[in-house]
Amino acid sequence: MQITLSQKERLLLEDQKSHEQLCIEKYTNYEKAASDNQLKQICNANAQVEREHLNSINQLLSGNVPDMNQNQKQNQNQNQNQMQNANNTQTSGINLSDKDICTDLLMTEKYVSGAYDTTIFEFRDTGARDVLNHIQKEEQKHGEAIFKYMESKGMYNVQ
Ligand SMILES: [Fe+2]
Ligand SMILES: [Fe+2]
Repeated sequence: MQITLSQKERLLLEDQKSHEQLCIEKYTNYEKAASDNQLKQICNANAQVEREHLNSINQLLSGNVPDMNQNQKQNQNQNQNQMQNANNTQTSGINLSDKDICTDLLMTEKYVSGAYDTTIFEFRDTGARDVLNHIQKEEQKHGEAIFKYMESKGMYNVQ
């Protein structure tokens, strides 16, 4: 479905686009920087979903409301190719502990989820809202994966 974006909708989407780009960069770099394999896997899995998000935001920016089901299938194929091309032996040049990496990722996901909330409330089109809501839910899932990892490693003290 085609929509025409208001100026505000476009500006908010541009912000979300830069957030998604940074999330891809963070997860890709942190996958290399992390010491623990389980954390590397979480970073890899989340980076793939962030690529899907960027794809959906780009579609919205071009006035298309993506069909989420169809989108996921296309992205799975794309991501498999990207995984095959990824060079995981490279070092990141980042010197952070796994706990610091997790804390930064958790802060990032929290912020991005909040920014989606603000964006959703400004949208006129229900289909576009649904797409943004779907993405926001996945950001919360990313946060949950990191939270649960931290909790299991004693990095997060639940009070
Ligand atoms: Fe995302
Ligand atoms: Fe995320």
